[in-house]
Amino acid sequence: MMQVRTRRSNREGDKMHSFSRKPRGDAFAQIKDAFPMKIQYQIALATCLAITSALHAAGDSPVDFVKQIKPILAARCVECHNSETLLGELNLQTRALAFEKRKAGPVIVPKNAEKSMLYLVLTLPARDTKAMPATGHRIPKDEISTIRQWIDEGANWPEGEDGAVTLKHKNSAR
Ligand code: HEC
Repeated sequence: MMQVRTRRSNREGDKMHSFSRKPRGDAFAQIKDAFPMKIQYQIALATCLAITSALHAAGDSPVDFVKQIKPILAARCVECHNSETLLGELNLQTRALAFEKRKAGPVIVPKNAEKSMLYLVLTLPARDTKAMPATGHRIPKDEISTIRQWIDEGANWPEGEDGAVTLKHKNSAR
């Protein structure tokens, strides 16, 4: 590309640049020619990076257990997964209980939603016996992706009051 341009310039003469090209020689002219292009690329690249990181920040703020996960568990899961109604050998009321060893395998594998039953059961077709919630309404897609993101981020689930999922009145879930 450089060669072509240089040859063309030599042949036709470049009115805009010939005065500076002649005394300084070809090497400098090439750098000078190339420079605005390089800056243009840098500006384009910086703009792309800025947009990408802005989008990233908007869609990817870490999931907050108390604000985003606890309400889902409270409304849709603990009615069947609490200390009295221990369906599927599973209590989802605290982190310690949810992480208890079960014969059927781990419920939550932090940083790996694809290996976590808690996420997988939400993605099963409704007619599957393991699809959750076992009865009633399907859980909305945005809540499923929030749970997925939360697990992939490490399934942060605080101890104490913040992490304690209490049973809501049955009707409030529907
Ligand atoms: C109406 C009752 C009910 C509700 C509501 C419910 N579950 Fe379950 N859950 C069950 C039953 C029953 C099983 C046992 C199913 C089996 O083993 O075949 C089970 C099992 C599970 C298991 C273990 C699956 C396995 O194979 O180890 C997970 C994980 C689970 N539920 C997650 C959830 C989540 C998350 C929610 C809320 C979105 C939820 N459940 C809501 C009844 C319920």
